Amino acid sequence: MSLPKTEKIWHNGKFIQWDDATIHVLSHVVSYGSAVFEGIRCYDAPQGPAVFRLREHMQRLIHSAYIYRMELPYSVDDLCNAGLELVRVNKTPACYIRPIVLRGYGDAGVNPTNNPIETYLACWEWGKYLGEEALKSGVDVCISSWNRPAPNTLPQMAKAAANYMNSQLIRMEAKINGYEEDIALDTNGYVSEGSGENIFVVKNGAVTTPPLANSALPGITRDSIMKLCRDLSIPVAEQVIPREMLYIVDEIFFCGTAAEVTPVRSVDRIKISSGARGPITKRVQDEFFGIINGKTPDRHGWLSPLNVPSAAVR
Ligand SMILES: Cc1ncc(COP(=O)(O)O)c(C=O)c1O
Repeated sequence: MSLPKTEKIWHNGKFIQWDDATIHVLSHVVSYGSAVFEGIRCYDAPQGPAVFRLREHMQRLIHSAYIYRMELPYSVDDLCNAGLELVRVNKTPACYIRPIVLRGYGDAGVNPTNNPIETYLACWEWGKYLGEEALKSGVDVCISSWNRPAPNTLPQMAKAAANYMNSQLIRMEAKINGYEEDIALDTNGYVSEGSGENIFVVKNGAVTTPPLANSALPGITRDSIMKLCRDLSIPVAEQVIPREMLYIVDEIFFCGTAAEVTPVRSVDRIKISSGARGPITKRVQDEFFGIINGKTPDRHGWLSPLNVPSAAVR
């Protein structure tokens, strides 16, 4: 399925036509993967469309760029305002927003310092990543034969394009072998994350997730889930998770902007508990979807409203 096109894309402070957002094949990013990016969701709630944790995503974009010595001429506020305006002009109240900062056309060598830095923000309508049914019944996953990159190789705290060559290997392997998704281990054999999601496990009523030092992205949904668990008085902690722990925990779920909160029902064809969505996963999902659908008060201020009624952006 190809991308559902919208009208405008934001480029270096100006809106351009979707079809004009092109780059030269010899742009630095094409050969060397030199881009950082974000994935953000706008939800069409009854109170009006709103973007989930927009500021935190734009802050992570700036941090990712900073790690790679990419100087961005925009503040968090500039990027947040551009993101909100993008959704308004494209009239897409429920969409995925994709900011990209890339190194463009200039020198051909590896050293990127003479290549211009281009900033783009695009959005498009987007449904459930792992499917509607997956949110209820859960997904079947396996452990990937590919590890996440070792520490001090490709920095995993940056959401960089190059990291996703590793994610592609993981995801393709899952699909080819008939699984919905893979769980990747770090180079020490400890659980890291999925190809595009963080992972949580539940054992005896307590929730744990691998620390960032296990080569996991500092996911914004991960952070939200940890806060929601604390709100619900569910014990939650970062903890190193050995592979075999996955087979004997009570519940497992993935989380991320795309996957939202998705239960895992089996790992390597071993059923997790009864093989159905567990009660803590359900509580976390209810709280998460309650906030983004406007049914539960947004007590953490996670939603940035577009400040226009849904009808005005259709
Ligand atoms: C590798 C990886 N891990 C985790 C996540 C979840 O992060 P977030 O919740 O910020 O979307 C993503 C999605 O962006 C990802 O690509």
